[in-house]
Amino acid sequence: MTVRTIEWRAGEVILIDQRRLPRKEVYRVCRNYRQVAQAIRTMVVRGAPAIGVAAAMGVALGARRIRHPKSVGSVMERVFRTLEDTRPTAVNLHWALARMRRTYEENKDGGLELLKQRLEDEAMEIYEDDIAANRRLGGLGAGLLKGSRRILTHCNAGALATAGYGTALGVLRAMKESGAAIDEVFVDETRPFLQGSRLTAWELLKEEIPVTLITDSMMGYVMQSRQVDAVVVGADRVAANGDVANKIGTYTVAVLAQRHGVPFYVACPTSTVDLGCPSGADIPIEQRSQDEVTHIAGSRIAPDGVHTLNPAFDVTDHSLVSAIITEKAVVTPPYKKNLRAVCSSTSLR
Ligand code: MRU
Repeated sequence: MTVRTIEWRAGEVILIDQRRLPRKEVYRVCRNYRQVAQAIRTMVVRGAPAIGVAAAMGVALGARRIRHPKSVGSVMERVFRTLEDTRPTAVNLHWALARMRRTYEENKDGGLELLKQRLEDEAMEIYEDDIAANRRLGGLGAGLLKGSRRILTHCNAGALATAGYGTALGVLRAMKESGAAIDEVFVDETRPFLQGSRLTAWELLKEEIPVTLITDSMMGYVMQSRQVDAVVVGADRVAANGDVANKIGTYTVAVLAQRHGVPFYVACPTSTVDLGCPSGADIPIEQRSQDEVTHIAGSRIAPDGVHTLNPAFDVTDHSLVSAIITEKAVVTPPYKKNLRAVCSSTSLR
């Protein structure tokens, strides 16, 4: 794999620091669960599946440092709570922690060393499952997008946002692997955090997939001038009715795509589908610091004292979504019925 996002090495979690890309490839070493939680909160690691995997490894680290069997219950509660509270929108984080909690509950009375081993094994399984799911959904997506040579994506749903391979970018990788011709991938900057220009452009260049960077404000122009055959994006949470929470700006892309008759696809593993969440209105939207809006790369670009808004995600109504590509199937409307049929064995609740 060309991009290594997360690694578990001898009781340490190694993360590529995504805040430093594309200028520097710097790796952070987390030796305890608090450092993992801090890395998630501060976007060292980001992207729905990636933060789920990191949180699972954080639980394994938390258990690893317990010395006294008597403190297991109180320490583990603290570990789960700290990691739960890092970011609210991406359900993969909560899904992975629910898996880790189940493993904890099943093994907490079997001895401390066994518990530590089981939690580490479960975290590694979550990691491997994510890569496998991405590869499978990539293959299904490549079939669906066959013949689309000019594709637009938003934010970063690549190897960096997952344990590896990627979801939306996994579809592009699978297309390339299958020999499909890709003439151009439009990537918008994705203000305020610039996941598009910093991360997606970097990943696609590394993969030698042709990439054209545009600012967010050019989206309408490229659609109107008929330069885009299909849109494919990732997701942070898909509600039971098919509404999709994803990086802020996704809704704008979807509205434009519909206006111009361009199919709008969402690629995500079933761990992103939350059947317990009836609609997009029930998805918590993270609000982030105003500095992300008033500054770019540490430089202030707005006057002191200006009022800002910084919702990190928006919700795209299911009526704008052409299909949801998962590792189990390509799900099409009616989403309420079809998502339940495909995802009921993997969903959180
Ligand atoms: O705030 P981020 O960078 O964590 O948001 C990431 C996104 O919105 C991605 O599109 C989403 O998590 C899908 S990643 C496979």
